[in-house]
Formats: sequence, C-alpha cells, structure tokens
Amino acid sequence: MPHSMSLFVVASLLAFAPLCLCAKSSGGYLYPQFYDRSCPKATEIVRSIVAKAVAEEARMAASLIRLHFHDCFVKGCDASILLDGSRKITTEKRSNPNRNSARGFEVIDEIKSALEKECPHTVSCADILALSAGDSTVLAGGSSWEVPLGRRDSRGASLSGSNNNIPAPNNTFQTILTKFKVQGLDLVDLVALSGSHTIGDARCTSFRQRLYNQNGNGKPDFSLEQNYAGKLRQNCPRSGGDQNLFVMDFVSPAKFDNSYFKLLLASKGLLNSDQVLVTKSAAALPLVKQYAANNQLFFQCFLNMIKMSNISPLTGNKGEVRRICRRVNSQ
Ligand code: HEM
Repeated sequence: MPHSMSLFVVASLLAFAPLCLCAKSSGGYLYPQFYDRSCPKATEIVRSIVAKAVAEEARMAASLIRLHFHDCFVKGCDASILLDGSRKITTEKRSNPNRNSARGFEVIDEIKSALEKECPHTVSCADILALSAGDSTVLAGGSSWEVPLGRRDSRGASLSGSNNNIPAPNNTFQTILTKFKVQGLDLVDLVALSGSHTIGDARCTSFRQRLYNQNGNGKPDFSLEQNYAGKLRQNCPRSGGDQNLFVMDFVSPAKFDNSYFKLLLASKGLLNSDQVLVTKSAAALPLVKQYAANNQLFFQCFLNMIKMSNISPLTGNKGEVRRICRRVNSQ
C-alpha cells in the first residue's frame, strides 16, 4: 500500500473511532455477585425458567427483553411495570406502549415463585427482569454479559411516565434521541439497543401509518421499500386487523443477529422509528452501517444494555423486595 494510501486508511479509521465507543459500562452500585451468599442459585433458577419459556415460544425472548426496557425507562429499573392496578396503583400495563403489547408477565411470576421457595424475600423483581433480558439475549443467539444485581422494587408505578418516557414508533428521530438522553443514554446506545428489533413482533397498528398515510396526505412512506410495503398491506389493512402480528426482521425473525441493520439499509425496517435511524440522522447512519457490516461490533455495542439496566436503581433500604411481583408488599 502506498504511504499516502495507508495514511488515508489510518486517518479514516481514526475518524470513525469515536463512533465505535461502546465500552462496557459498570453497574455502579450494582454488582453481579449480589446474591452469591443470600441466594446462590438465583441466576441458575432464572436461566432455567427463561430457557423453558423460550423453548416453548421463541418470541418470549423478545418479549422479556422489551419488558426490561419498558421498566427501566419509567422511574428506573424498579419493576414498576409489573404492578397490577389496585386501589393505590395505577398500572403501567395500560399505557399506550404496553396495552395489548407488553407480555411475559406470567414467566416473571413463575420465576418469582420459584425464587421465593428457594430463598424467600431475597431476589427483587427488578433483578429478575434484568437477568431475564440477559438470558433471553443469549438464548436468541446474542451477546452475553454479567448482569449487575442488587436493584430493589418500587412501591409505586407511573402511568404518565410510561406514556411519556417510552419512545413511540411514530416519534421523530430527535424525540427518540431526546428520550434516550433523558435516561442518560446516547446515540450509540440508541442505535445498538434498537438492534433488539432483530427479534420479536410488532402489531399492524404500530406501523399502519407508513403504509397508507405517512404525512397526513394519504401517501405511504416512500422510505419503505415498496414491494415490502405491498406485502405488509396484505395483512395490515387500512382499517381493522390492528393486532395482526408481523416479524420485525423477516430474514431471521428469531435469531439475535445484525440482520436488522442490513434490512434498515435496504429500506426494510418495519417501524418508522427503525427506518429514521438511516433516513433522519447523519450521525446514526454510520453506526447502522458499521453494525450491518460487523456482527461482532454490534454484539459488543449491545453490551450497553448494562447502561440501560443501570438506570436509577433503588438500592440499600430504598423500595422493597416484593414477595409477588404484581403487588407491593403492604397494600
Ligand atoms: C428506540 C425506540 C424504540 C421504539 C420506538 C420501539 C418501539 C417498539 C414497538 C412499537 C414495538 C412493537 C410493539 C407492538 O406492536 O406490540 C416494539 C417491539 C419490541 N421492542 Fe422496541 N422500541 C424501541 C427501542 C427498543 C429497545 C431499546 C429495546 C430493547 C432494549 C426494544 C425491544 C423490543 C423488542 C424485543 C420488541 C419485540 C417484543 C415482542 O415481540 O414481544 N425496543 N418496539
């Protein structure tokens, strides 16, 4: 390689270096050995029940990852999403992002009851969610990480937090990025964690607008590849069929890999919030390209899940360890 050429290569590598910043973050006050003495089998018990659930239904891996995300963006990772409605609790389960959509609650219940038998009143529901998300990622073929532990559970929920903090599929790129920044997450986190959409499903109602009326002028979203859009229309009509399900990564719907990013580059991202990573941000596009080209890099950056897992945990004597994840200890 001529000297000038190699200089150019080094210079361009350096130019891209900041984009690859995705070093593993620590769990802060949380640490993976938290239950080593108090409940040494905790992680094993969670893993085996998640494995059973995912073996029964592959989609459950996706649903459990999403539960953790929707928990962490509302008052921190405190299991607030698991609380059912009651006299004192206005449940987050009825929020726009969760209603008819969030799932996996029965699996969390099963894990909790097994843990209560093994070591009563010890392992928090918030930690169960974090561990389940990690196990689900591995079971679907993705990266593995040691999950920092020691979160405690909230004594309340926030319906408005759930409605306002969790990004919606029709939010603009800027709104989505702002919602991540409010949580202490950045652009790299946004792009890497959106890679979760390499598995799991979305309902017709979550992307219909793109098929028929993207900007209120009766025209589809032209940033969606038109053959693909045509196929989607077959099962996502102009009206009705709201709950019809579509895989988000039709190339490898149950496999955790970088094909989601390849699809984005082919204008075949299912949600508007997916496609805007390519069409609306000069800063996000190179990240999408890098993850599409390099699965290992995507996996490494996906370890930033640890950052998400570490959003405002309740620790020490804050909150409580619930005995049943669906309700606070004293109602
Ligand atoms: C960046 C902003 C995001 C938006 C706007 C968004 C939106 C959505 C929507 C609308 C669905 C389909 C829900 C339905 O139709 O029932 C979905 C599914 C999913 N999301 Fe996201 N999401 C985002 C980021 C994330 C992140 C950060 C994660 C994980 C860390 C994640 C994990 C998932 C998973 C795994 C599914 C499939 C769930 C299942 O099949 O049960 N999403 N998301």
